[in-house]
Amino acid sequence: MADRGWRLAEGVSLSGRNTFRVEARAERLADVHNPAALPALFSEPWAQFAPLLVLGEGSNVLLASDVPGLTLCLTRARIALVEDGPDSALVEADAGVAWNDLVHWSLGRGLCGLENLALIPGTAGAAPIQNIGAYGVEVGEFVDSVQAFDRETLRLREFEREDCRFGYRDSVFKREGDALIVTMLRLRLPKRRPVNTAYAGVAEELAAMGIEGPPKHRQVAEAIARLRTRKLPHPALLGNAGSFFKNPVIEAAQAGALAAAHPGLPVFPGPSASTRKLSAAWLIEQAGWKGFREGDAGVAAQHALVLVNHGRASGAELLALAERIAASVQARFGVPLEPEPRIVGGRFDPGRAQGG
Ligand code: FAD
Ligand code: EPU
Repeated sequence: MADRGWRLAEGVSLSGRNTFRVEARAERLADVHNPAALPALFSEPWAQFAPLLVLGEGSNVLLASDVPGLTLCLTRARIALVEDGPDSALVEADAGVAWNDLVHWSLGRGLCGLENLALIPGTAGAAPIQNIGAYGVEVGEFVDSVQAFDRETLRLREFEREDCRFGYRDSVFKREGDALIVTMLRLRLPKRRPVNTAYAGVAEELAAMGIEGPPKHRQVAEAIARLRTRKLPHPALLGNAGSFFKNPVIEAAQAGALAAAHPGLPVFPGPSASTRKLSAAWLIEQAGWKGFREGDAGVAAQHALVLVNHGRASGAELLALAERIAASVQARFGVPLEPEPRIVGGRFDPGRAQGG
């Protein structure tokens, strides 16, 4: 049969395609290895008006039920150096590239910037969706442009960095949902840049590695990988999607009142002068959830912000647990928590949960 640019399967289990490792079936699953085939794919009667889930590695989704319509994965994974200047280079990565491969590909070519984002799971295509961030750096800072397929017009569109409207765990792509399918990420990476080791624990980790003097960028990547490996459960060993809630951003005055009432509450600068960011992990731990387990749904023993599947928890059970946690944090601190992963086939509603 002629290569149409995609492979289609029906009634497929997605348990191996989400890092929570919950069972859910895709009505139709298309693995697209040629993005140029997207207009033809979306002209097919079974795809044209079908509900759509674009899936990368499934490391930031909670599948709360079976997935109707079309689940689509972009699998092409090329990285190319498209421009090599004296101070920086322009790098192009297909949506299907594994993010951590891109980090190490760039560091291996003397390009810096991505070292603090080492070992984040997922694909390059998903990186701009929530503007992935870690250890004081967000990918948006390095985005030159994003190429996305517009399902309405069946055409490719280019988004310059300003058009992406990046924020904390936010972008235009996240807000537009599946109307835009990211096909390519272009990053402008510097050849020189001071390392950023300000985040708690990084300098200590470098010292523990025996690194004296200014660290190299790849050494910072290694320190961060070591920290992450210690702090977060590995999805291959314990199903999870990283942080389950965003760190709440609240008004500075409310943060001040909370800090006065709860000594020890970590308070960080917010995205604007009048706001502060709180630690969701701290709030959840104080509410007594760290290490909690009911059936196979639980909260990681080593990090209170990570919901885990000990084996056969369903997405609906994990969603119900998340709602109970958020309800109890709201009751105790008056702070609403918002999930970070995309909830597929369910609605997050802490109002229907019993707090604690
Ligand atoms: P998926 O989970 O498959 O999808 C996530 C969202 O993006 C969904 O809404 C999906 O529809 C959409 N999407 C995916 N691909 C495309 C595309 N090509 N076009 C349009 N939409 C698309 N995140 C951080 O920011 N910082 C961290 O430090 C971090 N640490 C993590 C640690 C662990 C152990 C885990 C499991 C997750 C962590 N995450 C972190 C979350 C996750 O790794 C990122 O959100 C990642 O970008 C998700 O990539 P993915 O390919 O798995 O996307
Ligand atoms: N803390 C607790 N209890 C815990 C864990 C942490 O009280 O069990 C408190 C500590 O005070 C700690 C603070 O929370 O100092 C911050 O913890 P950590 O450094 O682990 O960071 P985080 O705020 O929990 C965020 C991101 C992570 C990212 C790290 C490092 C969000 C929602 N999460 O976590 O991203 O890797 O910072 O930059 O912003 C993800 O998005 O999936 C993710 C893992």
